[in-house]
Amino acid sequence: MEHVKQKGVPQNQYTMCWLDYKRCEDEEYLKKVIPFISNIFILDNNYYFRNAALELKEAIKNIFGVEPNIQTTSYLDFHHGTLIGKLGNEVIEKFLEKEEKEQIGNEGFLIKVVATKTQNIILLVAKTESGIIYGTFELINRLRVKSNLSSLYIIENPKAPLRVINHWDNMDGSIERGYAGSSIFFSNNRVKRSLKRVRDYARLLASIGINGVVINNVNVRGKAIWLITPKYLPELSEIAETFRLYGIKLYISINFASPIYIGGLSTADPLDPDVFKWWQETVKTIYSYIPDFGGFLVKADSEFNPGPYVYGRSHADGANMLARTLLPYGGVVIWRAFVYNCLQDWRDTKTDRAKAAYENFKPLDGEFLDNVVLQIKYGPMDFQVREPVSPLFGGMEKTNQMIELQITQEYTGQQIHLCYLGTLWKEILEFDTYCKGKGSYIKRIVDGSLFGWKYCGFAGVSNIGSSINWTGHDLAQANLWTFGKLAWNPDRSVEDIAKEWILLTFGDDKKVVENILWMLLNSHRIYEKYTTPLGLGWMVNPGHHYGPNPEGYEYSKWGTYHRADTKAIGVDRTSKGTGYTLQYHPHWQKIFDDIEKCPENLLLFFHRVPYTYRLKSGKTLIQFMYDSHFEGAEEVDVLIQKWEELRGKIDEDIFNRVSERLKMQKEHAIEWRDVINTYFYRKTGIPDEKGRLIYP
Ligand code: GCU
Repeated sequence: MEHVKQKGVPQNQYTMCWLDYKRCEDEEYLKKVIPFISNIFILDNNYYFRNAALELKEAIKNIFGVEPNIQTTSYLDFHHGTLIGKLGNEVIEKFLEKEEKEQIGNEGFLIKVVATKTQNIILLVAKTESGIIYGTFELINRLRVKSNLSSLYIIENPKAPLRVINHWDNMDGSIERGYAGSSIFFSNNRVKRSLKRVRDYARLLASIGINGVVINNVNVRGKAIWLITPKYLPELSEIAETFRLYGIKLYISINFASPIYIGGLSTADPLDPDVFKWWQETVKTIYSYIPDFGGFLVKADSEFNPGPYVYGRSHADGANMLARTLLPYGGVVIWRAFVYNCLQDWRDTKTDRAKAAYENFKPLDGEFLDNVVLQIKYGPMDFQVREPVSPLFGGMEKTNQMIELQITQEYTGQQIHLCYLGTLWKEILEFDTYCKGKGSYIKRIVDGSLFGWKYCGFAGVSNIGSSINWTGHDLAQANLWTFGKLAWNPDRSVEDIAKEWILLTFGDDKKVVENILWMLLNSHRIYEKYTTPLGLGWMVNPGHHYGPNPEGYEYSKWGTYHRADTKAIGVDRTSKGTGYTLQYHPHWQKIFDDIEKCPENLLLFFHRVPYTYRLKSGKTLIQFMYDSHFEGAEEVDVLIQKWEELRGKIDEDIFNRVSERLKMQKEHAIEWRDVINTYFYRKTGIPDEKGRLIYP
């Protein structure tokens, strides 16, 4: 099974995803909206406001065919137009109630319509430049979906303070786990000189409320180690400036052993004064180039990356040392909890990779400085199609936490298969940890409200590259969109978020909306069915992680992840098994420990189960496996059919690109079905009750 290698495209030859503005054909709406948009008044005449006004102007021109005047003079005709200004501005404040002003937070905004006999005004108000740019895109999008102006009234504030995209981009231009072309930031061990695409990317991110971006891979090797030095900082400062215009801060992934690699020191021991001094100087230099630098992202002591363990120090020692250097400038250290011994021998019954993050970090609760945030993958393993949530969420009350989600589809079909992740993410965010009693949802932990943290939020591993449509699969754009929207407000329903994306990307044709919505909302369920249901996970080819391989995994010297034999499959992670369930709140521990109560979609993650075990439906486990794979592969036909019904209603290029991917998905789903079913048949010798052909 081959990957599709997506080539990058030359400058300007790419789509703008949900920001591809199309002409509004509705004359009625145009008539209504014109008085409100024919002028744009900016009350704070600076670089950022002008940029926001230009964004709005360009959008209005494309959507409504009129070119608004941008006015920055002190004499203003406030009768007709859109008024953009900051709180505190006298003119603006005249239009606002006290309570309204109080409700606008740092990155939030208000959009309000004043329509009287003599006035037709849209007000866009924020406290900061970031709020203005987020509000600008929100306004543009509302106009695009023809929102009723007489009732348009929005006050929005992001729930989580950090909403960051992680790029796993390497300096040679490749992207680790990237499925959409090469890096838009780097090529040939250089920072790319043209920033056109970066700017368009910043626009896309601002339109979904992102406020941070880490542009290099967490595995920091070779030239990338030098990114924090004047060798690259002048170019990075230009990237930072481009992002700044759109309310986004730049962060850099660092190699913990940098003082050795580039500082000429003999150690990177975090408690060594010379090491601290070296980092202090380095940070000072970075801020001299990038005054609003966000901070460092660190993968330490994991998968061959150096870290404090080398010196017998803890992760808190390592993170705090860096945090002290960043503190005077307002920077943060985002420290990854993805720490485990990939070479561990798990043949004894207590060793369990799932336990690693908690074991490494829980004892350190309370030891991290305030500007350290622990970035935790959603589950205890590695972005599988289904995992339980990491018990670290809520397990460390005194440590800032971010949730790490993988937008790029490493284990979820690599942007060949349609796999909309919003439904999975929403389930995770709605999980009630019980850490502070009922209602201690993950979304309330990572937005900071449960424990009152200042730094916390969302990190998403990017799925974009230089391909024509940014994401390889056109419909995978919905994953980036949804990540941003959930990070902004995890209370929103994914149906709503997905629908909004469809309307903005494909328009409001009823059939188009209905079919694509169905495809998105059902795609993860379908993918799970024909790959690894019941919490099984993995079973992918080692290395590139694509396609079925029931016993394949790069570190599988000690056997398979699922430990299948001829009688049973799954890992006993109960309190009597590896003891993993003990890391959860007792509420969940009891549920996960009990094979009858354990959610069935996680059954084999928590339990070792004989193939003849009867599931709630009355089916045996083995029969469920067969059925699931047959049904899943068959349901891909429904995806194809739903898409086929849209022929002629969708831009032809996009239609063809998606059709091609769906065709591959079907072929690869059949391969998954046959490889996995054959594996189980050979292991168990139990035939399919329905007599279907298991061997292809
Ligand atoms: C996975 C992935 C790696 C990545 C790692 C990480 O293991 O396959 O490519 O480096 O996660 O999150 O650090």
